Amino acid sequence: MGALGELTVPQLEALLKKLRGEYREYQRKGLRLDMSRGKPNTDQLDLCQGMLDTVSSSLGAVSESGIDCRNYGFLDGLPEVRKLLADMLGVEQDEIIVGGNSSLNMMYDCMTRALLSGVYGSDKPWCKEPEIKFLCPVPGYDRHFAITQHFGIKMLNVDMTPEGPDMDQVEELVKDPAVKGIWCVPKYSNPTGVTYSDRVVRRFAELRPAARDFRIFWDNAYTIHDLYDEGDTLLDLFSLLKEKGKEDMIFIFGSTSKISFAGAGLAAVAASRRNIRYMVRQLTNQTISYDKISQLMHVRFFGSYENMKAHMKKHAAILRPKFRLVEGILEEELGELEIARWTKPRGGYFISFETMPGCAKRTVALCKEAGVVLTAAGAAFPYGIDPADTNIRIAPSYPTLEELNTAARLFCLAVKIASVEYLLTTSI
Ligand SMILES: Cc1ncc(COP(=O)(O)O)c(C=O)c1O
Repeated sequence: MGALGELTVPQLEALLKKLRGEYREYQRKGLRLDMSRGKPNTDQLDLCQGMLDTVSSSLGAVSESGIDCRNYGFLDGLPEVRKLLADMLGVEQDEIIVGGNSSLNMMYDCMTRALLSGVYGSDKPWCKEPEIKFLCPVPGYDRHFAITQHFGIKMLNVDMTPEGPDMDQVEELVKDPAVKGIWCVPKYSNPTGVTYSDRVVRRFAELRPAARDFRIFWDNAYTIHDLYDEGDTLLDLFSLLKEKGKEDMIFIFGSTSKISFAGAGLAAVAASRRNIRYMVRQLTNQTISYDKISQLMHVRFFGSYENMKAHMKKHAAILRPKFRLVEGILEEELGELEIARWTKPRGGYFISFETMPGCAKRTVALCKEAGVVLTAAGAAFPYGIDPADTNIRIAPSYPTLEELNTAARLFCLAVKIASVEYLLTTSI
């Protein structure tokens, strides 16, 4: 079959009848599959099982540098673990705070502190401004947008291009002093898989926002999460900003959630020394210290950043076949029909899928009614509103290959049904 758009109305009607028949077969199977969230699967978690043996009553909990991890202290993290995560995020050891178990939580905290007290260099707390706005490259990470929405910060969409956010739009929008920041997932972006090009990163370094306390929330969640031996490379924005004396403009986030244990890993924020000192002063009112036993476990298990990178190759070996399987099925089922586009990421956790206009919600609903849960259509947009209703985020990491095979084929069937329905409506 060629492009669906070339079929006549009677041909489309006949096709829809056939597709609905196939769909009813799926409904009879009583499926219960989930492709909604980018969770590591059990095999991936098992890769770090040995970490659980690194601390015991006999091995003790004193770090190599002689710190008793059972006690308070070292609010910014064990020196050894600061080194490990500083290497991962490409910063110096005194430019990082290793916090709790979740980078998202650290982002939320940064936003809260900015609102209540301001960031380093603010004239006043952000909440005292008449209005605050944040730039949101779309499609993007739903939980970033949830934080922003939660605080009543106005979100402004910026289009994602294959090179990163549309920088013409960004440069124009930051002329408004109410725009205090931007969310970025610069490598293997969630959900598009895009790694920002050198050109885009250089334009970020040149950015001259009207708000003097503007912050780039640079969420480098997938910094070493390559699917293939040859990974994407991301230009080092922090160094570029340093060259221009603008290093206070960025907060870098990262975690080991998809390296060690999701929800029980280590999270970090990296920034200029001025920002870090300012944050540590604020943090002393929040906690006495974070969980250094978990930090010690990570240092003992990984030893070095080199070992951590080697460990990520094992994750890739598990994830790669899953991405390939889904991409193969999409190509086989939809390749010639000219009704959809999707990304073929080289890292990260997601495939971003574009249907014909107005077909995303219908596709997700059809999948749900046949027992396959996908991320809600529109979730990757501020306020859950995808203006064209075309974007669907596919997360292939958690299901088994067999489950993925079924889920991806049902997904393609749902896309076809939604597209034929759309074509029939528009050709009347
Ligand atoms: C871009 C991005 N940032 C942050 C997170 C969450 O990280 P953490 O577990 O460290 O809170 C995710 C999880 O999917 C993510 O995709």
